[in-house]
Amino acid sequence: MLRGIFSILTVLLAAFCPCSFQADIADKYFPQSFRFGASTAAYQIEGAWNEDGKGENMWDHWLHENAGHTDDGLNGDVACDSYHKWQEDVQHLKELGVQTYRFSLSWSRILPTGYPDTINQLGVDYYLTLIKTLKENGIEPIVTIYHWDLPEVFNEQGGWLVPEVSDHYESYARVCFQLFGEQVKYWVTVNEPKSTCMWGYGTGIQAPGLTLIGDGVYTCAHNILLAHAKAWHVYDTEFRSQQGGKVGIVLDHTWSEPASNSQQDAEAVERENEFGLGWYANPVYLGNYPQVMIDRIGNRSVQEGLSQSRLPQFTDTQVEFIKGTSDFFGLNMYTGYMVQYTDDYQANPPTYWGDKGGNTYSDPSWPKSSLDWLTSYPEGLRKLLNYVNDKYKPPEIIVTENGWTDVTGTLDDDDRVSYYQGYLSNLLLALVEDGVNVTGYTLWSLLDNFEWGSGYTQKFGIIHVDFNSPNRTRTWKKSAKWYQNVIATRCLVDQCQ
Ligand code: NOJ
Repeated sequence: MLRGIFSILTVLLAAFCPCSFQADIADKYFPQSFRFGASTAAYQIEGAWNEDGKGENMWDHWLHENAGHTDDGLNGDVACDSYHKWQEDVQHLKELGVQTYRFSLSWSRILPTGYPDTINQLGVDYYLTLIKTLKENGIEPIVTIYHWDLPEVFNEQGGWLVPEVSDHYESYARVCFQLFGEQVKYWVTVNEPKSTCMWGYGTGIQAPGLTLIGDGVYTCAHNILLAHAKAWHVYDTEFRSQQGGKVGIVLDHTWSEPASNSQQDAEAVERENEFGLGWYANPVYLGNYPQVMIDRIGNRSVQEGLSQSRLPQFTDTQVEFIKGTSDFFGLNMYTGYMVQYTDDYQANPPTYWGDKGGNTYSDPSWPKSSLDWLTSYPEGLRKLLNYVNDKYKPPEIIVTENGWTDVTGTLDDDDRVSYYQGYLSNLLLALVEDGVNVTGYTLWSLLDNFEWGSGYTQKFGIIHVDFNSPNRTRTWKKSAKWYQNVIATRCLVDQCQ
């Protein structure tokens, strides 16, 4: 009887609901084992840039040198002031009912010189207390070791362009495992290496502002991949048996649809996946860079008269060293693209985009946020989760970022609610219908915060932060209340079956 009523309701929902996913998910629940959470990063929320012994990082330096690097001329000196207001943040997390909180450690707060010879106890205590308080409140920390804030001292030595940086990172990661590993069971080595390489070393819109889009981006990626693998091995050999945690890398990708059903567009989509995700995921899960990258960049380098490929090569030993170094797949996914074949090769200057080939654009019917790159294509998340699951076969997937921005910071953020509703519905379908082993979700972001080159003009938070007030007052948006309800009910529609 109930089943009959449910079927009628489902049909009615499907017929009248403007959002076609509602009917599919009305009788589906997130299992109790699925963990909801929220994400942030040190430079974007902490502030206290020079307090209690913290050293300078490359974002401090870059923005102090030239305020013009951000849209509003502002920097992360104070940000959300979470260095002082962390207790309030934990309180908000508790009220939301999250099971996890993903935040990052500031390298130069822990090691002010960048090197492990000087440990800043006050900085360490800050994180120890935060972690302890989270755990006391039943919230599992997911800790990112590196979210783009390289100590300035290493930036001055060449940053991610020089191989030694991966050794410095390894030493720093070891210190993190030593100091916090008793409490932390989920570690992210590096957040979105593609973004930090593309925008920091490719287009120059982020620190350190270098424009090496045809070669520096590849060198940066190469050194970050080695750094990641070194940290994983340190954990594996020195800490895993006592601490029993998991170490993974967080990679970002989008989902691309072909502009037509031509073979050329299908190949352009494939290249989008290989250059966009395989660049990092292949070495970590399958061994070495995708063949299409090796071939295309190699051939072009020959045509450009170079004696070696602009894509650095891993030795066989390095391929083996990097392969298999992730205990879970952290996936940041925000948006989708249409991809159309182009292959207008330009030797001068060579670029990553030229190497990839293919023109990407947003489908005009997809809802737009206040940032050009971010439109809402929720089905893409289900497709991408299936793609990652099938291709890389990770032991576990956590969606570590997903979010929506506006410029008003409105508390009535219905657009953000629809975005999350759509993406979480697709995540749920991937989980319960497709059998993808996705175990958690940490949305971006807990708070409105410092959005890199956009400064404070873009608001990604489910909690509003008043940046005009010295208190950095936090106020819940509609999306926070909506998320609280989803976490409590484990269901995405108003009337759960
Ligand atoms: C990815 C990055 O990890 C995060 O720092 C950034 O704020 C969001 N995407 C939104 O752009």
